[in-house]
Amino acid sequence: MNFPNIRLRRLRNSDSMRRLVRATALSVDDLVYPLFVKNGKGIKEPIASMADCFGFSPDTVAAEATEVAGLGIPAVLLFGLPDKKDEIGSQAWAEDGAVQQAIREIKKAAPELLVITDVCLCAYTESGHCGVIKDGKVDNDATCELLARTALSHAHAGADIVAPSDMMDGRVGYIRQTLEDNGFTETAIMAYSAKYASAFYGPFRDVADCAPVCGDRKSYQMDPANSNQAMAEIEQDIAEGADIVMVKPALCFLDIIARARERFDCPIAAYNVSGEYMMLNAAAEAGLLDKEAAMMEVLYSIKRAGADIIITYFAKEAARLLK
Ligand code: PBG
Repeated sequence: MNFPNIRLRRLRNSDSMRRLVRATALSVDDLVYPLFVKNGKGIKEPIASMADCFGFSPDTVAAEATEVAGLGIPAVLLFGLPDKKDEIGSQAWAEDGAVQQAIREIKKAAPELLVITDVCLCAYTESGHCGVIKDGKVDNDATCELLARTALSHAHAGADIVAPSDMMDGRVGYIRQTLEDNGFTETAIMAYSAKYASAFYGPFRDVADCAPVCGDRKSYQMDPANSNQAMAEIEQDIAEGADIVMVKPALCFLDIIARARERFDCPIAAYNVSGEYMMLNAAAEAGLLDKEAAMMEVLYSIKRAGADIIITYFAKEAARLLK
């Protein structure tokens, strides 16, 4: 053995020493803050299933976005909470939809803040599925067209990045082609490429009232037991024109993030989802752990695994600590 020549503890003896040798850097630049928007005016409604999260109307979300930008966070991710649902999810691409209005308001209030939009139908369809139903099944190709229409409406409103989260085959290609055909050559696509059929979306589905009415999402979201398939999904999305790829959720899938990091050169995002967020909040609430320390440990683990971008409901709290 090399002891005592090698004493690894020498490099851990003081905060300055630990900072000097720290191999992973976490920065406010890495963070994306998700925001929920609904139609109306003057609304800032607490979300029961998610601590410190609110449903905003387009006017109040602009004020929130300004605060987010002030903390140095580079981007927000918008989710719509529509008041009307129908068979095909038509509110998803409505000109006066909550998301479309919110994009315009945010761009006026905080022009430098990047606006990313979630592109999916699940909050907008009566079935609660991420696509349209035909003969009792989610119809892949018909859904892709509606997703492209939705992404285009977001680009029209001023979105910088559209983020399809539906897991249909070929949707990135459909969206890319539609954006090109309509002159939106600068709009980036962040694809939810390796999105798993996870139990950790529980709190979010309460907010968006988007749990499938019947069946589940296993015919389109990935089986958590698979890893190679995630590489195939990511490869496919890059080939179809994705600028950024995502692994979701983050914590049970750190190995997928690490594998993707080794294999692909494009930016990788990881989504620290609602269940991961609330698991920690609930444990802290019960006095079982130190929330700030646990939060930073989680965020470092995602960064260390290889993510460039972390989408997290902790973004504001983390930004304050990282300042
Ligand atoms: C919609 C969508 C979901 C999430 C992001 N986009 C829910 C789902 O697929 O059921 C989950 C976000 C979270 O849990 O924080 N397709």
